[in-house]
Amino acid sequence: MAESMKGLKRTCRCAELCEENVGQKVTVMGWVQKQRNKGGIIFVDLRDRSGILQIIFENGQIDPDGFAKAEKLRSEFVIAVTGTVVRRSGAVNENLVTGAVEVRAESIRILSESDTPPFPIEPDSRTKEELRLKYRYLDLRRPDLQNNLIMRSRVAMLIRQFLAEEGFLEIETPMLTKSTPEGARDYLVPSRVHPGNFYALPQSPQLFKQLLMCSGYDRYFQIARCFRDEDLRADRQPEFTQVDMELSFVDEDDVIDVNERLLQRLFQEILNVDIALPIRRMTWQEAMDRFGSDKPDLRFGMELKDVSDVVRGCGFGVFTGALENGGSVRGINAKGQGAMPRKKIDALVKYAKDFGAKGLAYLSINEDSTYKSSFAKFMTEEELQKLVEAMDGQAGDLLLFAADQNKIVWDVLGNLRLEIARQLDLMDKDDFQFLWVTEFPEFEYSEEQGRYIAMHHPFTMPVEEDIPLLATNPEKVRARAYDIVLNGTELGGGSIRIHQNDIQEKMFEALGFTKEQANEQFGFLLDAFRYGVPPHAGLAYGLDRLIMLMAKQESIRDVIAFPKVKDASCLMTDAPNTVDEKQLEELRLDITETEAGQGA
Ligand code: AMO
Ligand code: AMP
Repeated sequence: MAESMKGLKRTCRCAELCEENVGQKVTVMGWVQKQRNKGGIIFVDLRDRSGILQIIFENGQIDPDGFAKAEKLRSEFVIAVTGTVVRRSGAVNENLVTGAVEVRAESIRILSESDTPPFPIEPDSRTKEELRLKYRYLDLRRPDLQNNLIMRSRVAMLIRQFLAEEGFLEIETPMLTKSTPEGARDYLVPSRVHPGNFYALPQSPQLFKQLLMCSGYDRYFQIARCFRDEDLRADRQPEFTQVDMELSFVDEDDVIDVNERLLQRLFQEILNVDIALPIRRMTWQEAMDRFGSDKPDLRFGMELKDVSDVVRGCGFGVFTGALENGGSVRGINAKGQGAMPRKKIDALVKYAKDFGAKGLAYLSINEDSTYKSSFAKFMTEEELQKLVEAMDGQAGDLLLFAADQNKIVWDVLGNLRLEIARQLDLMDKDDFQFLWVTEFPEFEYSEEQGRYIAMHHPFTMPVEEDIPLLATNPEKVRARAYDIVLNGTELGGGSIRIHQNDIQEKMFEALGFTKEQANEQFGFLLDAFRYGVPPHAGLAYGLDRLIMLMAKQESIRDVIAFPKVKDASCLMTDAPNTVDEKQLEELRLDITETEAGQGA
């Protein structure tokens, strides 16, 4: 039967005890990790969020009633123990923070009993993630997840402290709002009072933070929940958290400066890692040309080389054909991988095809400087030599080439570079390589929508000299947008905003909006800009991604208390679910037949 805590007070957490406390009387409370009964003596590992403490129950030292309770303890029982801290009798346990001390119990209360948990609560769990997510409240007892969430809390506190010191104000913006244009699908909330009308949950506080600049708050931040209905991946959740900020009267260097110092402070205080400032900067064009990615992982080399000019006019039709179609031929050099077996190369070819490659041409340079290649037979010895030289190919290297439109070539080789680095274990999780990527293209063409869409968002200022191209050559317009990248992950992004209505109008035109459409969607922002708007700029981090990298985790699910799975459902609560007929009626919603045939 569960006992109460009446008259008892916890004096400390389990792992807060050390040699200094020897001789003190303490009361600790927590969960039974393990109980071992050695006859007249019972050992219990007691766990709370600070760690594990060994408790000893010895018949005679504790009354028979207490000893009987200790005998029936099982994993995950919640207990309170009062006793004396003593030096550990057996060998010091190096694995425990409290390894040098233990507590000799004088009394015990069983605060609650526990069924046998569906999986053991232990570090580095090998239990399948689905089961752990169904019982997330148990999984969250594991020290790995506890450490992640403790780190997350500390980071959030430090961010607040740092930004407050820098003169930022924390201001909340609405959750029930109008669609914000970040390019993903919105989550909609039906209005009961306005049947047939919907709120959208914010994809980001973008429009509101720009309005706050109009209102004179000049430095705003918010740790804001954002919602995006998009396909989930390891670094994407339907709801996630941004550290969002906006500043008035600034340019790129001001935004970058305050954020570099913020990152430096966080890594110093949380990980004791020194980030050298300033962080490197690279234009989008250079990032694509050298790494085939707008979020390059700089922990290793294997850079892309454009060999279009070297192979122009050669005998290999795949290469010359791609060039004739306006594409390029580029390669990477997997140093020392020349002996890679055919099977593994075939797997790389297949991997490349998953990213849209029609094929992948390879050439390995044998130790005797002969070649093993899928295309050498189409080229003269001289052409081959020139190509190998251009790739800095040495005996023992493996050269891989893709020939296609630039976009495909970048994507294929950029991803291949990462795949080979994974295979060769070149990604050291303790090595933090930051990078600013600047001058993104303002637009990208959406095949799906048959028009240009904003690569960042429609309020991003173009590079000044490119403004005339808005009307004539949108694909050439560079944006004053910047991303902060860490080890191949986009941590955050932002831009200088357009604060002139005439440029904003040109933007909307380039995006194919009529005046009416622009007014209907963003009229309140355009109106606000008529009443004195300061030049402003901002940035938002994905907090989940930042913590994932700081805590060296593979997925943001490991740093979110209650995450969702790939199909955006919650395995613990079963959300989303159907609702009462009555609720639907109130909202005047009719459900048409769903695929599963469960519609009303
Ligand atoms: P952006 O759309 O680049 O910019 O988002 C900023 C950062 O938010 C994180 N992020 C996500 N994290 C987890 N799951 C997701 N589904 C997800 N989507 C985005 C990323 C990303 O870099 N309003 C602008 C910022 C600005 O211009 O100031 C914005 O939202 O780490
Ligand atoms: P084929 O003549 O089609 O057998 O191609 C010869 C070699 O070129 C094979 O190794 C193909 O995988 C490779 N290849 C085909 N298309 C491409 C391409 N677009 N880029 C690079 N290599 C290719």
